[in-house]
Amino acid sequence: MSDQNKYKRYTVTSALPYANGPIHIGHLAGVYVPADIYVRFLRMNNADVIFIGGSDEHGVPITIKALQQGVTPQDIVDRYHGIIKKSFEDFGISFDIYSRTSNKIHHETASAFFRKMYDAGQFIEKVSQQYYDEATGQFLADRYITGTCPVCGYDKAYGDQCEKCGSSLNATDLIHPKSVLSGNQPVLKDTRHWFLPLDQYEPWLREWILEGHKDDWKSNVYGQCKSWIDQGLQPRAVTRDLDWGVKVPVEGAVGKVLYVWFDAPIGYISATRELTPDWEKYWKDGETKLVHFIGKDNIVFHCIIFPAMLKGEGTYILPDNVPANEFLNLEGEKISTSRNWAVWLHEYLEDFPDKQDVLRYVLTSAAPETKDNDFTWKDFQARNNSELVAILGNFVNRTIVLTHKYFEGKVPEPAEFSGPDMVTMDEMKLFPDRIATSLHNYRFREGLAEMMNLARLGNKYLTENEPWKQYPNNPGRVATILNISLQICAELTIVGEPFLPFSMKKVRQILNLPSFKWKDATRLDWLKPGHQLYQPELLFDKIDDGAIDAQIRKLQKTKESNEISQPKVPVKPGKDAVQYEDFAKMDIRCGTILEAEKVPRTDKLLKLKIDTGLDQRTVVSGIAGFFKPEELPGKRVCILVNLVPRKLKGIDSQGMILMAENPDGTLYFITPDEGTVNGADVK
Ligand code: MF3
Ligand code: ZN
Repeated sequence: MSDQNKYKRYTVTSALPYANGPIHIGHLAGVYVPADIYVRFLRMNNADVIFIGGSDEHGVPITIKALQQGVTPQDIVDRYHGIIKKSFEDFGISFDIYSRTSNKIHHETASAFFRKMYDAGQFIEKVSQQYYDEATGQFLADRYITGTCPVCGYDKAYGDQCEKCGSSLNATDLIHPKSVLSGNQPVLKDTRHWFLPLDQYEPWLREWILEGHKDDWKSNVYGQCKSWIDQGLQPRAVTRDLDWGVKVPVEGAVGKVLYVWFDAPIGYISATRELTPDWEKYWKDGETKLVHFIGKDNIVFHCIIFPAMLKGEGTYILPDNVPANEFLNLEGEKISTSRNWAVWLHEYLEDFPDKQDVLRYVLTSAAPETKDNDFTWKDFQARNNSELVAILGNFVNRTIVLTHKYFEGKVPEPAEFSGPDMVTMDEMKLFPDRIATSLHNYRFREGLAEMMNLARLGNKYLTENEPWKQYPNNPGRVATILNISLQICAELTIVGEPFLPFSMKKVRQILNLPSFKWKDATRLDWLKPGHQLYQPELLFDKIDDGAIDAQIRKLQKTKESNEISQPKVPVKPGKDAVQYEDFAKMDIRCGTILEAEKVPRTDKLLKLKIDTGLDQRTVVSGIAGFFKPEELPGKRVCILVNLVPRKLKGIDSQGMILMAENPDGTLYFITPDEGTVNGADVK
């Protein structure tokens, strides 16, 4: 393989999960299962590889959780780091180290990294205005602020991101911002921070990614990078006003820590230092291939920001590839930690303690490699019952049972090879390279499908040759058929190992074989005649409806309790009846906002110029708390045009914009449908 010539060793990282919740199937399908398959495969190729994982223990989601639960952030991360680490171990994610970013070596590493860039003058120091909660006397970083997303209108957007539409935001973009701490509207206050001037890296990023990785990075990854770069990169703050994190190692920077997305990826390096004194060769030698496994929400950080940091620091290698996956949904809905809409790994392992491989299998076959995908319990059951049990398990089991039945569990010596035998043996040889190509190119679904095709080949071969019908008359024929079938089982233990390590180990034990290397996979003579096998054991068993229904019921309960726990503010009671004539007196028209500006010395009022279709007129409207003037021109509205004009703050207001007020007090426009013209009569 070409990259094996170019590279001597591999550093494989998997996104460090936030230690503010357990691991769920979305994490597994997107990051950890593919990374683990890749690494197991590399190890079987005798590659010098390290597989790095760890908990991301800084950042606002963690301090917020601590606040909500009345404990310290350290309590939170200790709890979840423990749960996460254990569930990964039990699930067979074969990290060489699973570290954490609250430990000392990480603080030192991240701090030194920052300091080196700082000393080299690579940050811009800027005083800017940040939201501040006067009630608690604190600056409000990122998720300490919520408000309405200016892009999609979602009313629970965070100060750094809208989870509804995915837009990356600045807290000052939010409409009617609110402090998570006090619920108050925050005020803007000056604060000093350090910025990574991403704009200066743009020409280099263009060359490195847009030209250099056009063909080898996945199109979803490349596309996201291109759109970020084409939008124009801005300097990005790499420090925050917070007291949980890596302290900014600059004199006078009190109450400031490194932004979590600055320190977390350095966690990969810290973990490597913790793993081996020889860590530098994994990070600083151009012959090392660095691969980051992540989910799609991490792309910008791993493809643009972290590489810019590595480049700026100057002594590190850059990722060769970042095979990010899309998202996995659960039963048709987005997985959500806060809504508990997830299948949690530690709970899965309790409910299905010996079915790690089933989940690995299902998550790989439904991996969101090129688009979002859906996990359903019915599909989980079907893939177990009709693929793992009916194809793979059935083939291996039949082969071993028959060998015991006819040959006392000893590998029989083949007699003559017939035409179909030769065809089968030729086909067998093709699988290892085919699967290797898929895996080298991060196409794990495809690799898994090929592995199953080898099991299908075996099943078909057995079924077509029917050794059970040949036995008393033609034992030589039976010996040949079973010998070949057993060799297929042995081959499966090799090419199936990265995907299904628990089950393939079992098969190896039954076959009484050592664990082979990948290069052995094309040999076809792993089992010598006379070799003694152990008794068969079921590899996979059927999952019945009861077990699946229990899981579905559990999700159903979650859904119900989510509905209860979101107390709805009641809608206002209805008003008295009116005559149609009274309603008809109102002249309401469709119109368009042409201009908008704040009325000086007021908080609430905007002065709008509106095209009503009849004329252009001025309306003063009390919506400044909800909309920014610059986003209004072009907005279609409904306007009451025959309201008697009144003076507001010295301005003649000639009409009223129709608004809908939600029970919680938030305001929305009543926007006419497309197709209406200005002046259209609303009735
Ligand atoms: N904790 C982040 C998340 O869950 C991932 C961090 S990856 C690292 O989205 F590179 F920063 F470590
Ligand atoms: Zn949004």
